Amino acid sequence: MSKLLSSRRVFLNAGLVGAALLLGGCGKQETAAPTGAASAPTAAAASAPPAKVYVVGTDAAYAPFESQNEKGEIVGFDIDIVSAIAAKAGVQVKFVNTPWEGIFNAVAQGDRDFLVSAITITDERKQTMDFTAPYFDAVQLIAVRKDSKVGKFEDLKALRVGVQTGTTGDEVVTKLLGKNSTAIKRFESTPLALKELESGGVDAVVADNGVVIHYVANNAGVGFKTVSDPSFPSEQYGIAVRKGNTAVLDMLNQGLSGIRADGTYDRIYAKYFGSAPGAAAPASAASR
Ligand code: ARG
Repeated sequence: MSKLLSSRRVFLNAGLVGAALLLGGCGKQETAAPTGAASAPTAAAASAPPAKVYVVGTDAAYAPFESQNEKGEIVGFDIDIVSAIAAKAGVQVKFVNTPWEGIFNAVAQGDRDFLVSAITITDERKQTMDFTAPYFDAVQLIAVRKDSKVGKFEDLKALRVGVQTGTTGDEVVTKLLGKNSTAIKRFESTPLALKELESGGVDAVVADNGVVIHYVANNAGVGFKTVSDPSFPSEQYGIAVRKGNTAVLDMLNQGLSGIRADGTYDRIYAKYFGSAPGAAAPASAASR
């Protein structure tokens, strides 16, 4: 079912991109002059165009990568990385909370200029959008209640497993349990899946290691533990743009290499994960 869903989504994306091209190619830009204004070239030329603000979609329920603080501000590792890239590139960005379910369509339609959302670069996704160079390494990690006997991924075969719909966690669990399995419980966010683990509605949750580790560390009272498994493929996060949007992609890639070269990336990494990347064992290995 997930396969079917995702191929339908690909189809839908293709249609929307096609429609966007028919409508004039440039997608929606916040600063695009309305048609009326465009027919008054003298006035337009006289005043400098307002600086473009790039609209960035993120599903802000994924701490420590993106979440909303008490003030409702969107914060996190991804937010700091993109803000640093924008500063390097001399552009402005605005983060807009965007549900994961519709996030890929939002960039395909031009409602978002790009997406930062702990998005794993996959071959399937590369068919409908373009990704920057990888900016973060991740792997799936299992969360279970402390008294659980689960010791490896295979052990989930006979259990009820929670995932966030359409994530790579959903993909690996669907592969293990079968696409028609009724034991897979799909949630619109990862925190909702973890809540369900707490209340006993599922026996395990599979999600990105960074998020699971963060949740377990910050909710000590709920009594979860983590289980890693060497069979999980390694994943890498990328920033996503609409397919063919090389202008934005180049800007992001240049900014990313800039913040890697000048130490900004390492500083942000250390702020969230304690040490520079590669300086310590991967978080998943240390989490047992
Ligand atoms: N890395 C996983 C994926 O790309 C999960 C990402 C979920 N991100 C989020 N902000 N909810 O499928």
